[in-house]
Amino acid sequence: MKYDVRIENISAATMTSTESGYGLIDDAAVLVQGDKIGWVGKRSEAPAGTADKTVDGNGGLLTPGLIDCHTHLIYGGSRASEFEELLTGTSYTEILKRGGGILSTVRDTRNASLEELTKAANRRLSSLIKEGVTTVEIKTGYGLDFETERKIIQAMKNLEKQTDITVKKTFLGAHAVPREYEKKSDAYIELVCNKMIPAFAGDVDYADVFCESIAFSLPQTKRVFEAAQQHGLKIRVHAEQLSNMGAASLASEFGALSADHLEYIDEAGVRNMADRGTTAVLLPGAFYFLREKKIPPIDLFRRYSVPMAVSTDSNPGSSPCLSILLMLNMACTLFHLTPEEALQGVTINAVKALGLENECGTLEKGKTADMALFNVKSPAELAYTMGGNLCVKVWKAGKPVFSAAVE
Ligand code: NIG
Ligand code: FE
Repeated sequence: MKYDVRIENISAATMTSTESGYGLIDDAAVLVQGDKIGWVGKRSEAPAGTADKTVDGNGGLLTPGLIDCHTHLIYGGSRASEFEELLTGTSYTEILKRGGGILSTVRDTRNASLEELTKAANRRLSSLIKEGVTTVEIKTGYGLDFETERKIIQAMKNLEKQTDITVKKTFLGAHAVPREYEKKSDAYIELVCNKMIPAFAGDVDYADVFCESIAFSLPQTKRVFEAAQQHGLKIRVHAEQLSNMGAASLASEFGALSADHLEYIDEAGVRNMADRGTTAVLLPGAFYFLREKKIPPIDLFRRYSVPMAVSTDSNPGSSPCLSILLMLNMACTLFHLTPEEALQGVTINAVKALGLENECGTLEKGKTADMALFNVKSPAELAYTMGGNLCVKVWKAGKPVFSAAVE
């Protein structure tokens, strides 16, 4: 058998099942054939045959390409000045209520050209790729009008072409009530359901809603889910971030792939998620940045076997974060995950949140050859280190997309 690439002198965290933890193989070899993984195992057992190219991993750790399953990477402007206000005691909710917050990013995003949006998002995405990210989910939601939401979707497509990274697309038209619909949020929901979802359903993979007292109510959320489902979109939801609205349970009834944030979810909500196989996406960056006090009920997720994913939530207002590795650290220090659970959160469980479990997220034969090589001796170092970049090489579908200057 002939292979294209042979990677050796590595240990491999295959992440093949949550029961096997890291699924670690010492002194491993991985063989790549085209865009797929052809073989993974002990180097001593590797099939005979040649590979066009051999990569010496220098004793590093190979993982599946990392998956950032919840981001808002495409937006105009910055909210650094609001950060200063947050630090001196003005709350996130107060800022949004006076027309700042998400709405200030909406103004900047409407004013930005497609090229500007794409370029800024490409810079952000390249920071993630350098840390091993090979699949990213990106949401709309800073347009809140037909034209700007469409522009954001176009920027996602541009990004995908420019980087070769898989960009899974989420329509989050119901992110905030735009200024021009102030006190007419039902009319805005009508626009989302009757105009935007039918027009954009062919271009995106999922629909999302920010269900919260400062955004949309549970009945409004339900209307969006119904419209999304009618148009073949899978559901995900910003749920129980600042209060318990029951959005995670509602989303689970709609067979949602994920419910995200979840600081305020109760046991019944967790049980409903477990019943419907909905993944919990944990976002420690937003928790940290907003200096929240209540952490998601990690023990309940464990007890009910709800898969836990971890993501940057990269966005200008609650998590201006461009490091998936830092999120591993924060998932452990702030939310009390183990380093093993944290790595599962950006691999095998992140693909569950995106419905991509047959394609990527683990190192095993037949999966897409999305891989990241880190200059670490043990997988726990990925969550242990704060800052700096441990990643030395990244492959997307068998092709190198990043190589560190110093390995
Ligand atoms: O995931 N919760 C709502 N949406 C984003 C924040 C968006 C913003 O503040 O710009 C989040 O935290
Ligand atoms: Fe978010």
